[in-house]
Amino acid sequence: MRVKNKVAIVTGGSSGIGRSAALRLAEEGAKVIVSDVNEQAGEETVSAIHKNGGEASFIKADVSNEEEIKRLMNSTFKQYGSIDIVFNNAGVGNQQLKITELETEEWDKVVNINLKGVYLGMKHAIPYMEKGNGGSIINTSSVLGIKGMKFQGPYNAAKGGVITLTKNAALEFGKKNIRVNAIAPGVIDTPIINDWREDEWKWGIISKANALRRLGKPEEVANVVLFLASDEASFVTGSTVMVDGGGLTF
Ligand SMILES: NC(=O)c1ccc[n+]([C@@H]2O[C@H](COP(=O)([O-])OP(=O)(O)OC[C@H]3O[C@@H](n4cnc5c(N)ncnc54)[C@H](O)[C@@H]3O)[C@@H](O)[C@H]2O)c1
Repeated sequence: MRVKNKVAIVTGGSSGIGRSAALRLAEEGAKVIVSDVNEQAGEETVSAIHKNGGEASFIKADVSNEEEIKRLMNSTFKQYGSIDIVFNNAGVGNQQLKITELETEEWDKVVNINLKGVYLGMKHAIPYMEKGNGGSIINTSSVLGIKGMKFQGPYNAAKGGVITLTKNAALEFGKKNIRVNAIAPGVIDTPIINDWREDEWKWGIISKANALRRLGKPEEVANVVLFLASDEASFVTGSTVMVDGGGLTF
């Protein structure tokens, strides 16, 4: 087992990439705290883990709310005695608008969840990791944190910020044996991309815009998260791992 008895928190664990990662980490022996704003779906992730013989529980928290994130970290530490792995993964898409047409409230919402949420997840988990033997943090960025795309202003900015904040945290806490990496998924088959499916022409391009000519599966991202979380990645920190089927190669 690759993460046996490690305590792992997964935000956005009710759906898509987060749910797959929670299942994969539990399969490999981690005690998983599934966190999300969607409680019902989060409990479904927990049940699926229990059904597989794994250990998991659900704690509701909005990643953009500092008090809720503090409580998530504190309750986890109280219940399990350590925090070893944090997958800061919760995220939302944005309204497809030009910067000049965007309401500032939309900007704030997307940046608060997708970037501030990662900052808060690190800020309140790291002190507990420092008490133990270190830990591994994985932050979800995107290919859209590296390249620009029209009408994706807040998402582009937030996901780009995740990559540099990841490097920053890797430098600040490497001495404490805390590794911090980001993943940059390409187009992965989860509900977050449902809006894109509506335009048949656009979808025809987007769903195959990579070297492998297909959508990624959440489990394919979860396997990379598991690697980064495990001791197999003991000399990997500050990196951004592309999980995009070669989408950024052209
Ligand atoms: N699917 C893709 O193509 C793709 C590509 C690149 C990056 N990503 C990123 O991967 C991450 C996971 O997305 P997904 O594809 O699994 O989508 P998803 O919609 O299936 O899952 C996102 C989860 O985040 C939760 N969430 C939303 N706002 C939250 C908040 N404020 N606090 C806590 N939880 C919240 C949702 O309830 C949901 O369960 C996101 O950060 C997303 O930006 C996805």
